[in-house]
Amino acid sequence: MTVLHDRPPTAAIDPIQFRNACGCFATGVTIVTTRAGDRDHGMTANAFMSISLEPALIAVSIARAARLLPLIEASGRFGVSVLAAGTEDLAMHFAGRPNDDLVDPLCDLDGLPVARAATSVFAADVDQAVPAGDHVVFIGRVSAFETVSEEGPLTFYKGRFGKLHEETPPMLDPDWMFAGSHW
Ligand SMILES: Cc1cc2nc3c(=O)[nH]c(=O)nc-3n(C[C@H](O)[C@H](O)[C@H](O)COP(=O)(O)O)c2cc1C
Repeated sequence: MTVLHDRPPTAAIDPIQFRNACGCFATGVTIVTTRAGDRDHGMTANAFMSISLEPALIAVSIARAARLLPLIEASGRFGVSVLAAGTEDLAMHFAGRPNDDLVDPLCDLDGLPVARAATSVFAADVDQAVPAGDHVVFIGRVSAFETVSEEGPLTFYKGRFGKLHEETPPMLDPDWMFAGSHW
């Protein structure tokens, strides 16, 4: 076995270096939303995953400090909007930098707010809320979803927004991709 580096004890993990290492994993960007009473709230998140096909499950990881967390706990539901390339303004708006120029950015999916500028949107009922350090992972059972556009994704990599260089890379063999547990 090849040992890359001497491992520091867990207590010595530097959170900034750890975040930078995690940032090497390129992701898309989503807005996670909920409706609690008559209050709609959204938060930018890249910690989104598809979990299971049957049943259809998705997951998001929400910081304990986020205003969204108690609202999802209260409503028992959340929406996820996968953002299209060029929507950095929306991503920053829902990441704590409110932008008054954005007019009516949300619409409705199955009783939940979702972003108009999304490529796909999901509505989910909380199936499990898993405490995980300073975050809570919400696993949701999908109640509705739509693929809204074929636009390329807004990406997030090493702390920067971007887009795919190659907008339409060749598809993987679909027979291989969906066989067994492959995605
Ligand atoms: C690209 C990007 C991805 C983010 N991903 C997450 C995430 O997955 N989970 C999370 O809790 N916060 C994430 N954040 C931070 C929240 O969007 C930010 O702290 C937000 O202001 C919290 O919402 P609040 O101000 O309503 O409490 C992300 C921010 C950005 C810009």
